[in-house]
Amino acid sequence: MSNKKDKYTGSDTDGGITSSYTMDDGVDLKVPYSFFGSIYDEDEKNMTLQAMGQDTLTMGPQVQAFQKEFAVMHGVKHAFAVTNCTTAMHVATQVFGIKPGDEVIVTPNTFIATSLVILKEGGIPVYADIDPRTYNIDPKEIEKKITNKTKAIYVVHYGGLMCDMDPIMAIARKHNLYVLEDCAHTPGAAYKGRKAGSIGDIGCFSFHSLKNMTTCGEGGMITTSNDDFVDAIEKLRCMNLDHWKDQVDYWIPSHFDVVDVKGYWGNNYRMNEIQAAVGRAQLRKLDMLNEKRRELGRRINDGIQGIKGITPVYESPDCYHVYHLYTLCVEEEELGASRDDFMRVLYKEEGVQGILHYQPTYHFTGLKRMGYGDGLCPLAEKFFYKRELNLPMHPRLTDREIEDTVTGIRNAAEKVRRE
Ligand SMILES: Cc1ncc(COP(=O)(O)O)c(C=O)c1O
Repeated sequence: MSNKKDKYTGSDTDGGITSSYTMDDGVDLKVPYSFFGSIYDEDEKNMTLQAMGQDTLTMGPQVQAFQKEFAVMHGVKHAFAVTNCTTAMHVATQVFGIKPGDEVIVTPNTFIATSLVILKEGGIPVYADIDPRTYNIDPKEIEKKITNKTKAIYVVHYGGLMCDMDPIMAIARKHNLYVLEDCAHTPGAAYKGRKAGSIGDIGCFSFHSLKNMTTCGEGGMITTSNDDFVDAIEKLRCMNLDHWKDQVDYWIPSHFDVVDVKGYWGNNYRMNEIQAAVGRAQLRKLDMLNEKRRELGRRINDGIQGIKGITPVYESPDCYHVYHLYTLCVEEEELGASRDDFMRVLYKEEGVQGILHYQPTYHFTGLKRMGYGDGLCPLAEKFFYKRELNLPMHPRLTDREIEDTVTGIRNAAEKVRRE
């Protein structure tokens, strides 16, 4: 690989790898995992400079425009920029009125944030198992978990593939439950032609560095088409401020009242102008970034077809998959070796760095201390977490890196089979 220096950062950028989970362990790393899931170019740099020249550096014209553009692209009436997806989901949890003792049905196959926001309000996460093909929450399992304390369903569109939203919405409407879509992995993804974040009551997006689009490493967005949520979301993301709107006078802009939102107190979860400006540039690239990921993901899929014991990514015909992750599964019996053995050889001998996530949320110590135990969701625990690994996946992967990935998987499978 021929490296060239980036004129802004001074780092090597060919293939875009400027960071990874690189260990100083002597491994000849051909395809490292990267912390950066997107592509930045002159657009992001120009937008940053433009925003830096403004008088207002927070909640100004860039945030306004980013919200409007994001809403149009995702087919919703309203979008609200926030600091990250966790704070987006916290606001949603308050808007839904989750109170201590309320149950929220949630997938265990996610980052801790999806449960954390429920716990933060004293709610009880109730875990429903996943579909063995999509790794998303299974609507049939949701139905089994409903009690008279259930208030909401929190789904995660895992890895870039949206959940089966029609049955989920039917269950929610039947039982009068709110639905939150955790869209951290799915900006621009679609289910039966409808965009992520436009089907549930509220959608929450992440612009963390690893995600398909990023706003300088952190950032988030709340989407909804429910006009009744607008006022609550605005207050809860901005310290419960109630700006004076109706009176016209020269001192109006700096005057506000402070009111609770049905007993809830919010926070300062605002996004700044530079992040929003970068987000606008990223949004213009989002289709290209997703298409690139799809092309790369499909090349890996094609390249590893037919390897006994290795299961590539599943693409549902109902969905536009945006390949946030490339999750490969190892079938221990067919391969004749464990996922861990395969992963070790893939890394140490083939230089392809995989990572593991997600362990079921209820396995974390804090949740165990609350009484959650093993066996709650056997598919997420054994069928998924013991078989899966995530390969490097981002739109800057080079032809060489894709070839090394495919060859590495083939070689590693052969080697562990013989061991
Ligand atoms: C599924 C999922 N939900 C929520 C989050 C939290 O996003 P953020 O880091 O923007 O708070 C992440 C982040 O990795 C995630 O993967």
